[in-house]
Amino acid sequence: MRMSYLAAPLAGDLRPVPGEAGPPLVGHTLHVMRDPLEWSRHFHGKYGPVAWTNMFGQRMVAVAGPDAAERVLVNRDKAFSNGRGWEYFIGPFFRRGIMLLDFEEHLHHRRIMQQAFTRERLASYLDTMNPAIAGGIDVLFPEATLRVHPAFKRLTLDLATKTFMGGELGPRTDRVNRAFVAVVRAGTAYVRFPVPGLRWSRGLSGRRVLEELLRAQLPAKRAGAADDLFSALCHARSEDGHRFGDEDVVSHMIFLLMAAHDTTTMTLTTMTYYLAKHPEWQDRVRAESAALASPHLAFKDVDGLVALDLAIKECLRLVAPLHAMVRGTVKDTEILGHFIPADTPLYISPHFVHHMPQYWPDPARFDPERFAEHRREDKVHPYAWLPFGGGVHKCIGLRFAGLQVKAVLHQLLLRYRWSVPAGYEMPLDFTSMPTPSDGLPVRFQRL
Ligand code: HEM
Repeated sequence: MRMSYLAAPLAGDLRPVPGEAGPPLVGHTLHVMRDPLEWSRHFHGKYGPVAWTNMFGQRMVAVAGPDAAERVLVNRDKAFSNGRGWEYFIGPFFRRGIMLLDFEEHLHHRRIMQQAFTRERLASYLDTMNPAIAGGIDVLFPEATLRVHPAFKRLTLDLATKTFMGGELGPRTDRVNRAFVAVVRAGTAYVRFPVPGLRWSRGLSGRRVLEELLRAQLPAKRAGAADDLFSALCHARSEDGHRFGDEDVVSHMIFLLMAAHDTTTMTLTTMTYYLAKHPEWQDRVRAESAALASPHLAFKDVDGLVALDLAIKECLRLVAPLHAMVRGTVKDTEILGHFIPADTPLYISPHFVHHMPQYWPDPARFDPERFAEHRREDKVHPYAWLPFGGGVHKCIGLRFAGLQVKAVLHQLLLRYRWSVPAGYEMPLDFTSMPTPSDGLPVRFQRL
């Protein structure tokens, strides 16, 4: 890795990037993984919004705050590549996933994929989801104290197999679940080559399991006209008539399953937590759901759940499921007046932006009204709230995610009241995506 962040700027009045390597070998990796917010505050406080350090086995430039995030995500000069950023962390497990593609090729794939997320498609995914949510809640959410994170993980996997693949996995569910967990966790492995039994190796086997399963089903999906996402990808056609080849369908499916699974699981978990800690909000969103007088959420009613929408936005702010994003430069460029050479890996933290007191008054407080029309604190900066990223790679599944989270909570709220003991604080593990290290035990009582 070149050291030119430290060198005199190459052109104009660009400044070099300040920073430090951190402890030998590991650099700041352990600190970032243990508490990314505290680390970002410390590092940003010391060096400002653009600073280099060693972490995750490479020298990275951490860009902090909404201005720097906007500069990178909007990417006007096409200097920042997703592939160069993400490949290092998840490439072997999610190769050819759309988030790892760049520029023209990315646009081409995105135009085709968009056809799997039209209004009509979303409405039909919701129709498939609703009975599956009802059945899932019956089995996975008894009237008891239970760890909700693993229960939601199971539920969202069941929903994905139905809405994405159009069928039940049956006895293969556990195997597929293990394969998912393995591929997602592999991204933050310390040992980044295959040693049997370690994360990297488990991630590679996970990918093979998923590929086998999808390839076996591909001919039937191509031949049929079902309304699941797998079929939608098989038949999607961009306006200029382009379609995905078989290997693209498989790679996009694997990426989509991953992109949808843990992010939605964590959003549901965070919602359950904050609604348990704030019973007045739980009552408010339940009343809104009850007013719909329908056990299942209809597509036409989704936008009517206004308070639930505010609470979801606030939960995505407080715990952004994708708490960090990465990029790599393909050419020399600048960020906020700092010279950034080609081949520089970048680290962007929505989680940090979401907790900056300059933009969010009392940032640790759960206060969904901050998103209400009369306050709209998120309008302080177009990149103050970025749980779904921004620019051309902005989450393609954000409406899908909103539907699923609302549809699940609608049903849970109508069946149960839930609580956590007074004073309980959810402990978060940031080793990969944020997860509650105790699974989030919650007491459910039937209404
Ligand atoms: C609350 C749930 C979700 C959150 C917080 C979330 C967050 C994100 C973020 C931050 C990105 C941008 C990554 C980057 O630019 O490096 C992204 C991209 C993406 N997400 Fe989501 N996501 C969620 C749910 C979903 C769902 C349900 C799906 C699919 C059904 C999905 C599919 C994707 C895809 C395909 C991309 C890549 C888009 C591209 O590169 O063009 N996501 N997501």
